[in-house]
Amino acid sequence: DMPIEELVPAACAKIQDFPKEGILFYDVTTLFADPVAFRRCVDELTDRFAGRFDIVAGVEARGFLMAAAMAYKAGTGVMTVRKAGKLPRDTFTKEYQLEYGSAAIEIHKEDIPAGTGVLIVDDLLATGGTLAAAVHLMHQAKLEVAGVGVFLELEGLGGREAIGSGLRVESLAVASE
Ligand code: PRP
Ligand code: MG
Repeated sequence: DMPIEELVPAACAKIQDFPKEGILFYDVTTLFADPVAFRRCVDELTDRFAGRFDIVAGVEARGFLMAAAMAYKAGTGVMTVRKAGKLPRDTFTKEYQLEYGSAAIEIHKEDIPAGTGVLIVDDLLATGGTLAAAVHLMHQAKLEVAGVGVFLELEGLGGREAIGSGLRVESLAVASE
């Protein structure tokens, strides 16, 4: 069996010069579609936080796929961190910066009891803007962040620093951009 830190980048499609010249784009859709790679990634990332969380939060859209599988494996519920404008009741909302412009994500205010331990997951850690915003939302809702887990971390973009040093951040593999 290939070590997980090699399997993850190998299972991603890699597109040279996308979205712009000089960028090697890691596309996780091929990893999600590969039954062996997907299961190994879900199992490994869940195991790294075994016994340390009460619910898994996935960030829309790609994080949803992992969160549901990981929650099912761990026997927990799943929580959706949604792009702004989708949730019908009172929300906490956090804006974050994208390469061009900004976006916002949100969660319902009172769905999960204060103090619940949340494992936040997403496919990729790049600049960390998305996951830092997700952490902020959990704190607003007085939830305990048990950790942050991603399949792939892109090195050299300051993602870990953006999330902050107080939290456990696990990536199954690291790739240089
Ligand atoms: C991508 C990716 C992560 C985020 C990582 O999501 O799935 O969520 O960007 O980038 P960052 O660390 O610089 O914030 P995207 O916003 O493209 O949307 P999607 O998941 O809905 O495809
Ligand atoms: Mg995403």
